[in-house]
Amino acid sequence: MARIAHLECTKCGANLSADTPQTICPKDGGVLYVRYDLASLKQNFTPASLAGRAPNMWRYAEVLPDAEPVSLGEGFTPMLPSREFPNVYIKDEGLNPTGSFKARGLSAAVTMAKAYGLKKLAIPSAGNAASALAAYAAAAALEAHIFMPKDVPQANRVECESYGAHVTLVDGLISDCARIVGERREKEGWFDVSTLKEPFRLEGKKTMGYEVAEQLGWRVPQGIIYPTGGGVGLIGMWKAFEEMEKLGWIGSERPHMVAVQSSGCAPIPKAWDEGKPNAEFWPHATTLAAGLRVPQAYGDYVILDILKKSGGVALSVTDEEIMDALRHWARVEGIFAAPEGAAALAAYRKLRASGFFSADDTVVLFNTGSGLKYLDIIEGQKMQAEPPASRQIGGIIGPY
Ligand SMILES: Cc1ncc(COP(=O)(O)O)c(C=O)c1O
Ligand SMILES: [Zn+2]
Repeated sequence: MARIAHLECTKCGANLSADTPQTICPKDGGVLYVRYDLASLKQNFTPASLAGRAPNMWRYAEVLPDAEPVSLGEGFTPMLPSREFPNVYIKDEGLNPTGSFKARGLSAAVTMAKAYGLKKLAIPSAGNAASALAAYAAAAALEAHIFMPKDVPQANRVECESYGAHVTLVDGLISDCARIVGERREKEGWFDVSTLKEPFRLEGKKTMGYEVAEQLGWRVPQGIIYPTGGGVGLIGMWKAFEEMEKLGWIGSERPHMVAVQSSGCAPIPKAWDEGKPNAEFWPHATTLAAGLRVPQAYGDYVILDILKKSGGVALSVTDEEIMDALRHWARVEGIFAAPEGAAALAAYRKLRASGFFSADDTVVLFNTGSGLKYLDIIEGQKMQAEPPASRQIGGIIGPY
């Protein structure tokens, strides 16, 4: 792993070697950051180096692990100017392999798992990370052991099974899935690729930060709105901005980082409002945005610290606001977003109304996944709002 200098604990600063697989800091359980020798990379690695490189996340190879990528073409997704709001961009992560931004993190994690010679990978997931692990594990000929809540969107289960993964549906939430993986991994010989419990998913997700800057012409926006579950993308993008400053690609300016969650599971906004450095477990978490149903984020302290340092904010939106935003985006922008992604629009509306953002601010909204993965959930909502009987015309059921 020539390019990696070491892994660094986000709690105690301890350095670990990346020559063998690592998980979290053995002393304090802190999340580990991959560190590179950016000062020497700076000599030759410049934005001009990227010209002509393939439009995927591995174009930033110098700041990614030095291993043969397990790639399905992830990353370099469109940055679409909003048709409704000037200065707003929609980063459409729904166009990634497996239909969500989880592809980035799992491409990097599986790349490294393969490089380390690991054979069996396990993941607790709200759904999309499971699909991504299953796909990349298939591409790398590794075993994937998936634990998801039994009410995940149907697409996630069908995808995982199609990719040949071992799927267990759990009567509980992602936190229950994580407990089961934790209990069984040693006996089963699984390597746990849980969010932030292995260092490379973060490396994949950080490429969103590089792309935002590159696609805006090496400027950072005034704001980034990120639908937050475990917060990996938000943390990763912040890490990318720090790296880019050290490389001399951007200055010290940073976007206001915004974490949006659903009011049915909002541990980060609650901690933010209470001014706490850690978030409490959110009991009875419920939201139709499956990826935001994360009652406790392992990297809560990192997320809250970034929100503070960036002059950002955490806020929640209701499921009704999410569904309204989802339909609105589809009709106005031609973007069929995942409910999680639609939460970014709902948050932007609120932050414009409150004056947090002005019409002049350049703001990037992350649509983290495709609505096509949520047909059962979206159809279910429509049925609730509009009972089938009222849509029945001469025996033909149709909404139009
Ligand atoms: C579509 C979608 N958006 C957002 C999230 C939250 O991502 P993160 O854990 O990086 O905060 C998820 C997680 O499952 C997701 O599937
Ligand atoms: Zn530590």
